[in-house]
Amino acid sequence: METLKIAVIPGDGIGPEVIAEGVKILKRTAELDGRFQFDFTYFPWGCEYYLQHGRMMDEDGIDQLKAFDAIYLGAVGYPGVPDHISLWDLLLRIRKSFDQYVNIRPIQLLNGAPCPLLNGSKEKINMLFIRENSEGEYSGAGDWLFKGKPEEVVLQTGVFSRKGTERIIRYAFDTAKKSGKSVTSISKANALNYSMVFWDEVFEEVSRDYPDVPTYSYLVDAAAMHMINDPQRFEVVVTSNLFGDILTDLGAALAGGMGLAAGANINPEREYPSMFEPVHGSAPDIAGKGMANPLAAVWSASQMVDFFGYEDTGKTLLDAIETLLEENRVLTPDLGGTASTSEVGDRVSDILQEMI
Ligand code: NAD
Ligand code: IPM
Ligand code: MN
Repeated sequence: METLKIAVIPGDGIGPEVIAEGVKILKRTAELDGRFQFDFTYFPWGCEYYLQHGRMMDEDGIDQLKAFDAIYLGAVGYPGVPDHISLWDLLLRIRKSFDQYVNIRPIQLLNGAPCPLLNGSKEKINMLFIRENSEGEYSGAGDWLFKGKPEEVVLQTGVFSRKGTERIIRYAFDTAKKSGKSVTSISKANALNYSMVFWDEVFEEVSRDYPDVPTYSYLVDAAAMHMINDPQRFEVVVTSNLFGDILTDLGAALAGGMGLAAGANINPEREYPSMFEPVHGSAPDIAGKGMANPLAAVWSASQMVDFFGYEDTGKTLLDAIETLLEENRVLTPDLGGTASTSEVGDRVSDILQEMI
């Protein structure tokens, strides 16, 4: 039997609450599947750790994580520690250090999930966002000049390398080719006259290697509109780091809310561990109340199972989430229910038992 070593970073706010359910369900999944088992190691990193130690993770934290097959993370950031410090020292550090340049975020409206669109033809919202996850607007490069002076100027530099731009676009085309889908590129060359002109050129070049994959290209502002008016037009979507961040929260709202939005940070070469985490943050407004929806964390866990090559079981886990939504009985308040985080986790676990 294969043993998969998982580094668990529950993190801040509702992170530990939803990760507890995800781990519970991963354990149950492994027991029921029988081909693999998990070996979980917990890391207490996050904002509380920062307040005690002056850093978000151990100094050699990245080295410690290298030994794992994957990372399972809850959420990072909490009032009391400035967000740009907490995020750059933990979440973004991991994404960058492990070259997790592909951020896969499914925007798929499951049966039973609420959709705010009045005319939404439910079955057909099924987009797969492939967000560039290592550079672009999140390069971290910039400067703060003449601080506090009248001539103060702040620079935040977007960095789009050929290697970084080409590999993410190629990843999207490979994904679309495998599943017979189209690829949509979302950019903004009319205003961003270096980065996005370059992005569009690379998209055009790479597309020539995939003559059978239909392509579309939208400006980001129009794309936001189309996502609401006509979400069915999107299949595989490739976009830059910041646009992908914003549009996947918009997509989450279309497909049941933040409590259902899952993400995988992938290093496709498998040189370093990949990381699985819900799209949402630490939700300070509901933290500690036992009312956070754990389904985004569970869906991310199913992406992890897929990543390890057990796609049949990963799909069963997703089906279990859908069954729970269709039952419309054990749901957290964000989905109109009264159940607690752990009641939802327990119910998914029971459904799994009935399915496998
Ligand atoms: P958020 O995603 O934490 O919350 C936005 C809204 O969605 C809140 O009303 C919250 O209650 C709700 N929500 C989120 N997840 C939910 C869940 N599982 N169940 C039910 N409701 C849920 O975003 P925010 O408030 O902008 O950010 C809070 C903190 O989290 C900040 O420090 C931010 O930087 C950080 N953050 C971290 C990550 C991450 O670790 N990946 C992602 C986003 C934000
Ligand atoms: C996300 C988050 C992060 C991002 C933040 C917390 C740095 O919003 O994963 O979507 O912008 O990537
Ligand atoms: Mn985000």
